[in-house]
Amino acid sequence: MNAPYTLFHAPASPFVRKVMVMLHETGLRDQVLLHNASLSPVSPDAAVNACNPAGKIPALRLPDGQTLHDSRVILDYLDHQHGGEPLIPRDGPQRWRRLTLASLTDAILDAAVLSRYESFVRPEEKRWDAWLAGQQEKIERALDYFEGEAFDELNERFDVVAIGLACAFGYLDFRRPEWDWRLCYPRLAQWYERVAQRPSMLATLPA
Ligand code: BEZ
Repeated sequence: MNAPYTLFHAPASPFVRKVMVMLHETGLRDQVLLHNASLSPVSPDAAVNACNPAGKIPALRLPDGQTLHDSRVILDYLDHQHGGEPLIPRDGPQRWRRLTLASLTDAILDAAVLSRYESFVRPEEKRWDAWLAGQQEKIERALDYFEGEAFDELNERFDVVAIGLACAFGYLDFRRPEWDWRLCYPRLAQWYERVAQRPSMLATLPA
């Protein structure tokens, strides 16, 4: 495949998944070669460090050699590379509202990924239960907000906000299968059941 872009990728990362879903939704998937990076906070990947000093994925190398990160920047960039309806409003109050809601979905992902590291990467004797509880509260506050006040906005279309939240639920099911979040958030559960069937979601399941 002669692809002009390279995405530094890991199939378990929900931040990478957001980019992958965006690529599928915008018809750009075949423009991108995947470079698998296996990394954690204590085992960095030299190729990722060389293109993103923060050592994080996703990072997207462009045809001119420049590398974009993080996932929010990459999504915004990709949204300017296709001819369809934008998935991030270009301007006006809607732009700031959708980006703020998308940022809340990233906060869920941050808390879920940090909790995963705390539970599985950090040595058992150093784990901090109160900190884990604080991360769980963040996730629950954000989901309460989407279940209630922001539900109609979420439901409008499958855009940058919906991509972030769908990837958050995908990650929770993948890494926290014991937590039946569907019982607490019935409207979101119904919404997710539907959007999880989209080809872009089915093609990007975490592994
Ligand atoms: C995970 O294995 O849960 C994971 C991998 C890469 C980035 C974030 C999370």
